[in-house]
Amino acid sequence: MPNDVFRNKKIILGVTGCIAAYKACYLIRELKNRGAEVKVVMTPSALQFVAPLTFSTLSGNPVVVNVFPESQQNGTEMTTWHIDYAQWADLILIAPSTINTIAKIVHGFADNALTTLVAAARSPLIIVPAADVDMYLNRVTKDNIKKLEELGHYIVYAEEGELASGLSGYGRMADINKIIDAAELVLSGIKKDLTGKKILITAGPTYEDIDPVRYLGNRSSGKMGYWLAKAGFLRGADVTLISGPSNEIAYPGIKVHNVRSAKEMKDAVEKELKQNDVLIMAGAVADYKPLKASSKKIKKEDKLNSISLSQTDDILLSLKKGGKKIIGFALETNNAEKNALKKLKEKNLDMIVLNSLSDKKSGFEYDTNKITVINKSGKKKSFPLQSKFQAANNILTEVLKIT
Ligand code: CTP
Repeated sequence: MPNDVFRNKKIILGVTGCIAAYKACYLIRELKNRGAEVKVVMTPSALQFVAPLTFSTLSGNPVVVNVFPESQQNGTEMTTWHIDYAQWADLILIAPSTINTIAKIVHGFADNALTTLVAAARSPLIIVPAADVDMYLNRVTKDNIKKLEELGHYIVYAEEGELASGLSGYGRMADINKIIDAAELVLSGIKKDLTGKKILITAGPTYEDIDPVRYLGNRSSGKMGYWLAKAGFLRGADVTLISGPSNEIAYPGIKVHNVRSAKEMKDAVEKELKQNDVLIMAGAVADYKPLKASSKKIKKEDKLNSISLSQTDDILLSLKKGGKKIIGFALETNNAEKNALKKLKEKNLDMIVLNSLSDKKSGFEYDTNKITVINKSGKKKSFPLQSKFQAANNILTEVLKIT
């Protein structure tokens, strides 16, 4: 991702006693590759799984395991490393976190190096649980995880899959990429502030068939909608994505409906909106379709020289909004702001996101975007060229203000 969120950030990686501890090695690599400095703190039982030397070699820093230094003589040496570490860190990330460490943090225990550090922490805390299925789904564990969230900590939930015990179910430590995404979000100062919100997002182009092999389409890649869906999900929202044809892969945990034509997108939006609070129409819906699609491939000898078109329905214009918050996009080449304001009014939107194709590296296919958000009262906020993930987060922050 083209941004510098991790550069020179100081991250403490807490590792606890669980087989997934070996995955922490990969996590250190990923964090360091992105420019972060990493120091590792282990619990005593983590030593059963990975040697501290592995972590000190990968991180390039000594590993803390003991509350008191080994050189401690008769309790006379001053040991305030936990305070120094707590002040040093921009982020504390515990991955994997056993249910034992989770329970201790919930209750404020400070009985080993890691829990002592957490008790003194000043920085945000991300906790990535890992346990066998019955331990993870245990009522007490669930309550403890909920309490951690209430305390403002960010949880990257365990995934479903095969477990070390041979059982399968929830409990696998989340994928490294997911942990990195969460760290990026938290380091950007964003929390799970969309928890409880149900957001419907459209993405990508629509294709209008001419015959069984040809269609009318547009250059939308779907990236903006997919980034919005991912950012919304990471911020705790329940996200449903209605996607036209796109090469993008939806973030795990997002419900996806694949559609092809404007009509299919319209039907899906109308059906799904009932279950959602917010609609963000990032989809680039076709305005025209062939009047009649040929059921057979059109051949050269047919000497086709024109295709009659008719207009598709405007989804936003015809939608029964029913008190839901509706956000549209406007993609313009000329008179950008004037046209965006016109669409905001005519389509009765709560907010419109303008991206101008005249900006370099902005719009279709790029991983960056330059957007201006205009709300119902005409108040406008412009953002510089930024990654589509950052743009998505800025849009969601504006959406949050009106929901
Ligand atoms: N939109 C829609 N249904 C359509 C076309 C567009 O709901 N048939 C939505 C888009 O998803 C977007 C907003 O309307 O959120 C504006 O789309 P845009 O293509 O910029 O504008 P149009 O209304 O299609 O007008 P024009 O193409 O003339 O600029």
